[in-house]
Amino acid sequence: MGLSPQRVAIVATWALALLGANAQDSDSDAEAPSGYDYVDPLIGTINGGHVFPGATLPFGMVKASADVNGENQGGFSSDNSTIIGYSHMHDSGTGGGASMGNFPIFAQAGCPNNDINACSYTYWDRQTKRINGTVSARPGYFAITLESQVRTEMTVTNHSAIYRFTFPNAPITANTTLSPHFLIELADLAQTRSNGNITVQGSRISGGGTFMPSFGIGTYNSYFCADFSGANKVRGGVFANSRGGDTETLHIYSEGTQNSPSDRPAGAWIQFDKPAQNNQVLVRVGMSFINEAQACANAEKEIPAFNFEAVLSDAAYAWREKLSVITIQDGGVSDVIKRAFWSGVYRSMISPQDYTGENPKWQSSEPYYDSFYCIWDSFRSIHPLITLLDPHSQTLMVRSLLDIYTHEGKLPDCRMSFCKGFTQGGSNADIVIADAYLKNISAGIDWKLAYEAVISDAEVEPPNWDVEGRGGLESWKKLGYIPTENFDIQGVGTETRSISRTVEYAYNDFVIATLAKAFGHQDDYQKYLTRSGNWKNMFKADQTSFINTTDTGFVGFLQPRYMNGSWGFQDPVYCSPLLSFTGCYLNPGGGETYEGPVWLYTFFAPGDMATLIATLGGPQKFVQRLDFFHDSGMLYIGDEQAFLMVYLYHYAGRPGLSAKRTRYYIPSQFNDTVNGIPGNDDSGAMGSFEALTMMGVFPNAGQDVYFITPPFFESVSIFNRQSGKTATIANVNFDPDGGNVYIQKATLDGKPYTRNWLQHSFFLEGGVLELTLGPTESAWGTRPQDLPPSLGPYGANGTVNGTGVGVERRWEVPRLEVEVGSYF
Ligand SMILES: *[C@@H]1O[C@H](CO)[C@@H](O)[C@H](O)[C@H]1NC(C)=O
Ligand SMILES: *[C@@H]1O[C@H](CO)[C@@H](O)[C@H](O)[C@H]1NC(C)=O
Ligand SMILES: *[C@@H]1O[C@H](CO)[C@@H](O)[C@H](O)[C@H]1NC(C)=O
Ligand SMILES: *[C@@H]1O[C@H](CO)[C@@H](O)[C@H](O)[C@H]1NC(C)=O
Ligand SMILES: *[C@@H]1O[C@H](CO)[C@@H](O)[C@H](O)[C@H]1NC(C)=O
Ligand SMILES: *[C@@H]1O[C@H](CO)[C@@H](O)[C@H](O)[C@H]1NC(C)=O
Ligand SMILES: *[C@@H]1O[C@H](CO)[C@@H](O)[C@H](O)[C@H]1NC(C)=O
Ligand SMILES: *[C@@H]1O[C@H](CO)[C@@H](O)[C@H](O)[C@H]1NC(C)=O
Ligand SMILES: *[C@@H]1O[C@H](CO)[C@@H](O)[C@H](O)[C@H]1NC(C)=O
Ligand SMILES: *[C@@H]1O[C@H](CO)[C@@H](O)[C@H](O)[C@H]1NC(C)=O
Ligand SMILES: *[C@@H]1O[C@H](CO)[C@@H](O)[C@H](O)[C@H]1NC(C)=O
Repeated sequence: MGLSPQRVAIVATWALALLGANAQDSDSDAEAPSGYDYVDPLIGTINGGHVFPGATLPFGMVKASADVNGENQGGFSSDNSTIIGYSHMHDSGTGGGASMGNFPIFAQAGCPNNDINACSYTYWDRQTKRINGTVSARPGYFAITLESQVRTEMTVTNHSAIYRFTFPNAPITANTTLSPHFLIELADLAQTRSNGNITVQGSRISGGGTFMPSFGIGTYNSYFCADFSGANKVRGGVFANSRGGDTETLHIYSEGTQNSPSDRPAGAWIQFDKPAQNNQVLVRVGMSFINEAQACANAEKEIPAFNFEAVLSDAAYAWREKLSVITIQDGGVSDVIKRAFWSGVYRSMISPQDYTGENPKWQSSEPYYDSFYCIWDSFRSIHPLITLLDPHSQTLMVRSLLDIYTHEGKLPDCRMSFCKGFTQGGSNADIVIADAYLKNISAGIDWKLAYEAVISDAEVEPPNWDVEGRGGLESWKKLGYIPTENFDIQGVGTETRSISRTVEYAYNDFVIATLAKAFGHQDDYQKYLTRSGNWKNMFKADQTSFINTTDTGFVGFLQPRYMNGSWGFQDPVYCSPLLSFTGCYLNPGGGETYEGPVWLYTFFAPGDMATLIATLGGPQKFVQRLDFFHDSGMLYIGDEQAFLMVYLYHYAGRPGLSAKRTRYYIPSQFNDTVNGIPGNDDSGAMGSFEALTMMGVFPNAGQDVYFITPPFFESVSIFNRQSGKTATIANVNFDPDGGNVYIQKATLDGKPYTRNWLQHSFFLEGGVLELTLGPTESAWGTRPQDLPPSLGPYGANGTVNGTGVGVERRWEVPRLEVEVGSYF
């Protein structure tokens, strides 16, 4: 209990941070830099990270950034590509195409010989290199200077951006006087605009257009409203291709014609006298999905005066406040670790985006969040981290998912820009909902509706299961697996991934069983419990695995299985970095696993680990197999299914090996460089993995289970806003250089604690978990009764059976008295 006084201090600090209304004050009072100061939004902006590094509020709709002509999925990239404009909405970390980036604005200091047609209009003419070293990014702020000597700074509110352009006294082009020229193009990053309108009126340019989503079907409309301030207008008009004119309105209809922006660049331009002060022009851009009028109203309401500094200060404060629920005693760790950690936390709060009040599709009093991009990626760690740090936002997100179910007929698995996105495997919103239920995410949630929604996923196949629900449900119910080359006339979808879909559907059914039990639906509970074991039906007990011609020595893997029950073959190594790594995407003809090998999916039974361990030959053999998987180069940690693989040692009674693996991947694969994440961030998935791992409480999403590993700091405290309590995990014998990663013993509020896992009640009720560390593995957390709950035989080796105890809403149960070892 040595830490109790410190806990009091932590709570007090947090309360002060909230009460002291001004971010700058709390900054100057603080002795050490705060978490905010360690956030580097540029991490993951090169080599496929696709992180959005621009200005946004937590979960904000407007996300402003410079856009590059290159790897521009997140808008900007830390390479040497050129800048084509600044746009106001983005997604972060997508593995799909470039998202949004609608209505880019671009500035030129003047037009040579004062001829508007000597200015550049198309993106290929106007693209300009950045000046190396001029990018500046922090939460809520982004700035860059181009070789034109024009510096652009930006900050945001929830639905509007404000840009501050600073021009050189003497424009670098010949015969040019300072007379700022701006254009706004009817385009998005992926060049998908079909219809569009744009109008110049006074110092305002407004318009709208129809665009396509970046990883989904259909189209969406987006609208903007830009007001200029700081200089007198000289003239303005619209442009088409490379020519500008005085006409003030342009309508584009694409009916029956090829009319993408690359075929016909179009937009509006406006030119000003020399600015009144500091060579600066401010541009305020409001956005909406409803109409132009609402775009203008959003800007007028949120940024009534063109006060850049005030907007920036509010944005910084919003981030400081979000981050303030975590307190670190860093114990002398390197800045690399601190920057990676805080940046990971930050990136987990960029999406989903709060579009409440901006939904053109249906009227509702429920919140509307978008950019669930995608739940296959986010259920594992993003939503659990939001649940820990910002349960209120998670509650709104769950309500929003349920409202989407109400109006679209199914929960989404992926959604962006009001369009249905592509499903990668299971119906994973089921897991988000179960996770929320088990962790007191409850205010205003209609659980009856939630139950109806997950049952719909499990029972009713939609006509197009590429964008919602599940495919192959008839076989699932009859045969107990998704057959390879399934015969399915209930719906259409990409008939691949039969193995990974089977194990994912099985886990989806596991969490539905949890909910059925909790809600008293005994028949459903039995039914989904049975189905949750369906992964076994694709397990081929005599399957071997070779790497090239060398036998790995491991026997028993998931394999393709046809409707008639006979087996197919997919090399268990196929689609790992060792063999045809990219062979298993969503394309037709892709493999029977999704973005990973059979080796990986054979380990995926998150609710049934005890059975799996017994199936794979007991804990010792299981640990050998898991070690081999990590060490062989087959495991690619840059894709989300890999995250759980770091922690499965806990189920085999070897929590120390999980701890060792956390250090194997961080910081070598997750660090503070611009290429500091190993894969697409996918809306913050990589960030949430590193944040949770460094806090020492990685979750098994969909269950009330957090695996305990030593935090990467001397101590970590998390304040819970629902309960007003603080939970602290403190290391004794902490080594800032990463030694001493094995827990020797633990106490919870001063009493011995031997389980290798925690429940959410720890965070709701507060407390201190003290971990004493040492240089070698110990007996702590290794006994059968110390292991996380699982279906199947109690303990890891099949010697004792399950107890038949039901799932509880665990926070109602005193922490140390919950049945251990088995869920049911
Ligand atoms: C950018 O260009 C410079 C100079 O040509 C080069 O040294 C640097 O490696 C380049 N950076 C990237 C990310 O390509
Ligand atoms: C750009 O700056 C980086 C460091 O900020 C440096 O490594 C690189 O060589 C510079 N490139 C050029 C072209 O100056
Ligand atoms: C932005 O939206 C969030 C909800 O997503 C809200 O909590 C916050 O107060 C809003 N910020 C401002 C400045 O209105
Ligand atoms: C600049 O102006 C001079 C004189 O009017 C003209 O001769 C020259 O061609 C112009 N240069 C450019 C690059 O437009
Ligand atoms: C463009 O304007 C026309 C005519 O007012 C309107 O019917 C159409 O919906 C507008 N389209 C967009 C994408 O704003
Ligand atoms: C398998 O063989 C190929 C071709 O000889 C070789 O490039 C590769 O490194 C081998 N892989 C392993 C894991 O041994
Ligand atoms: C089962 O179906 C597969 C795939 O259609 C086929 O290749 C195989 O011959 C069938 N086996 C039997 C025993 O009918
Ligand atoms: C940082 O992470 C990246 C991406 O995983 C990796 O390629 C790089 O080697 C790491 N850098 C350091 C210094 O560990
Ligand atoms: C559970 O959530 C509700 C609603 O947010 C809250 O009132 C209650 O205090 C929470 N329970 C605990 C134990 O934190
Ligand atoms: C199972 O585990 C127990 C206790 O850890 C051990 O005594 C027993 O020998 C094990 N049984 C098998 C079959 O491995
Ligand atoms: C475990 O279950 C099996 C089969 O249901 C039963 O025969 C055995 O007695 C049980 N063992 C224990 C220790 O309960």
